[in-house]
Order: sequence, then structure tokens, then C-alpha cells
Amino acid sequence: MLRCSSLHGSPCGVLAPCPCLPCIAISFPLPTEIGSYTRELVEASGSFVLAVPSRAMARLTLAVGSESGRETDKFAAHGIAWTPGEHTGGPLVEGCLGWLECRLIPEPHIQQAYDLFLGEVVGAWADPTVFTDGHWHMEESGKRSIHYVAGGHFFETGVPFEVTPGR
Ligand SMILES: Cc1cc2nc3c(=O)[nH]c(=O)nc-3n(C[C@H](O)[C@H](O)[C@H](O)COP(=O)(O)O)c2cc1C
Repeated sequence: MLRCSSLHGSPCGVLAPCPCLPCIAISFPLPTEIGSYTRELVEASGSFVLAVPSRAMARLTLAVGSESGRETDKFAAHGIAWTPGEHTGGPLVEGCLGWLECRLIPEPHIQQAYDLFLGEVVGAWADPTVFTDGHWHMEESGKRSIHYVAGGHFFETGVPFEVTPGR
């Protein structure tokens, strides 16, 4: 699961730059339905941060996804610690496992028609206890990313396995 935040708050104790920074445009779902405060922040700042929360953050993830920043300063209300991203200044929320700093690639038509936003990844960061040598090692640290289903139900990333190339 990726949670989106925009200029309003930020991360983390320990960060390691990810070696393989994708310099391509990617698309992803953001809380960007018409009327969401996040959408306004993304459009006004021209940037956003995608963060990967861990199981320890599930309750917080549900809470901030159930409120609007229009009525509440979620960072203050939940005591969310953050640091500003190096490239965009966007908030890297402490406790997440990874962060992607993204610059908005303005595409007004698809933003309006499909609530779809494109971002160029300009900075990628990960907790070094779960990401080394170019990939995730969630099994070793016990910290795993979570994925939201609905109605307060999540699942976490499961048991890893390997395959070797060939038939
Ligand atoms: C766990 C969780 C995940 C969510 N994921 C998305 C999502 O991927 N896309 C989306 O448009 N809204 C998603 N939502 C709903 C938004 O988080 C919600 O509309 C947002 O909190 C509105 O706040 P805002 O007005 O400050 O933007 C999710 C909600 C929860 C609880």
C-alpha cells in the first residue's frame, strides 16, 4: 500500500537512498477524487510523496485515510513526525518503510476525466533494515508493508520465495 501526502508535514529517523531510481513517469491511485484536500495540495505544490507503511502503522493509516485534511491537520492531530524530502520538500512520514518523492507531470485531461495523476520519481528512499542490495528483505527485519482491502481489513506482504530462470 502506498499512502500519499503532499507539502504538509515529513520523515524519518534513518533513510537510505535507493540505488535504482526510476526516471520514468509512473501512474498510481492517489486520494484524488474531486473534492479531496490531497488533490488540491498535489495540484498546488506540483509534487507529492508516496510512502509505504508498515503493519505497525495500520491503525494510523486507517485513521488518516478516514479523515480529511480540510477539517483537521492530520499531522498535528495524530502527532505524525516527518522530515522534508530533499527534492520536493514533501513530507516523508517517519516509520514508513519506503518513500518516493514525485514531481507531478501535469496532464489536466486525465486528471479531470479519470482522477489519474502522473508523477516523475525524483527521489527514492527506504528503511535500510528492510531494503538493501537493490531489493526488499522484509522477512529478516519483521517489518512488512501492508495493503488495504476495505472496511478496516488489511493484509501484509507474505512469505518470500525465489525462482531461477529456465523452463
Ligand atoms: C487505508 C485507506 C486507503 C485509501 N486509499 C485510497 C486510494 O488509493 N485512492 C483514493 O482516492 N482514496 C483512498 N482512500 C480514501 C482517502 O484516503 C480519503 O478520501 C482521504 O483521507 C481524504 O482526505 P483529504 O481530503 O485530506 O485528501 C483510502 C482510505 C483508506 C482508509
